[in-house]
Amino acid sequence: MTDTNLPAQLIDRFGRTVDYLRISITDRCDFRCVYCMSEDMTFLPRAQILSLEEIYILAKAFAELGVKKIRITGGEPLVRKGALELLHNIGRIESLKELVITTNGSQLESMAKDLKQAGVKRINISLDTLDADKFKAITRTGDLQQVLRGIKAAKVQGFERIKINAVILKNRNHLEVNDLVQFAVDNAIDISFIEEMPLGMVSNHDRSGAYYSSDLIKKDLARQFSLMATTESTGGPSKYLNVIGTQTRVGFISPHSANFCSTCNRVRLTVEGQLLLCLGNEHSVDLKQVLREHPGDLPALKQAIINAMQIKPEKHEFNLHEQPIILRHMSVTGG
Ligand code: GTP
Ligand code: 5AD
Ligand code: SF4
Repeated sequence: MTDTNLPAQLIDRFGRTVDYLRISITDRCDFRCVYCMSEDMTFLPRAQILSLEEIYILAKAFAELGVKKIRITGGEPLVRKGALELLHNIGRIESLKELVITTNGSQLESMAKDLKQAGVKRINISLDTLDADKFKAITRTGDLQQVLRGIKAAKVQGFERIKINAVILKNRNHLEVNDLVQFAVDNAIDISFIEEMPLGMVSNHDRSGAYYSSDLIKKDLARQFSLMATTESTGGPSKYLNVIGTQTRVGFISPHSANFCSTCNRVRLTVEGQLLLCLGNEHSVDLKQVLREHPGDLPALKQAIINAMQIKPEKHEFNLHEQPIILRHMSVTGG
């Protein structure tokens, strides 16, 4: 097939259009969240990771194949040197509608302004608790005040939307869901509650004992807030409720209690150049190999991406009560 005959849309075997690419630009992070990483992690050697230039070429190839939204993730994306320049370049890909980022917020205080200038439209920031000691316990190394200052700095820049991501763990932060929504309301930002997913072995953390469902959170919130269902979507898995009388939407990402795979529109690129077709499965294609074996051959790269759609699995199968079947940690994909 010649380049001009390549489809401008990526469609998988189940008829789902893939128009959302998540790119992890580093597996490194300055935090060690208990649900995401082990305390002592080994990170990838530099020679194994994609260069910023290679990441840009891949972003462009995906955009030419109909991807409209690119989310930059990590690890913590903002700890990679050159992240801003890369964002700036990706932000200028014409056909792209949205360049967005997911961050732990640790670098935002100094980088929020540059992110806005680079063309980032929305920011999702992880924040599981407003209690400094609990924050330290969950992130192992994080400083709550630093992240709160980061959120403030992001607000000043006037991004289209800022969203807090909170992974809710029973007996760790489940009693804080109302406080977290109040924080979002006070700051006129959104918040998504996430059910923890069993990815990779983590130390000193019992995933099945920590399960706290989205339905339980909704019941807790109903005591303090009036919530109304909305069909609004941010193009991710979150199902939103409006907090009546405020600008805040509360989202629920419920991989266990409300599977969202039938509407999946996304794939992931790891910093090693693996294209992951599903967060909860191992199916992947080595795009770094294609890139390096056929330098400058965009049609070959695009064909490999199109072919990859044929192995996108139908859905994830997570079981919190067994050892994780997916050995890769969440830090490899940034969610
Ligand atoms: P929006 O653009 O604001 O909708 O963002 P998003 O929810 O797509 O991205 P974010 O990086 O904020 O991810 C929030 C959570 O959703 C993370 O815990 C992700 O792991 C989870 N998530 C995103 N996509 C998928 C998916 O395809 N499958 C599963 N199981 N979880 C996902
Ligand atoms: N399960 C669910 N969400 C997770 N995150 C990190 N690890 C996990 C996990 N095991 C969340 C982070 C971040 C988002 C990208 O993914 O808190 O907000
Ligand atoms: Fe770092 Fe995000 Fe993983 Fe926490 S969840 S350790 S902030 S990559």
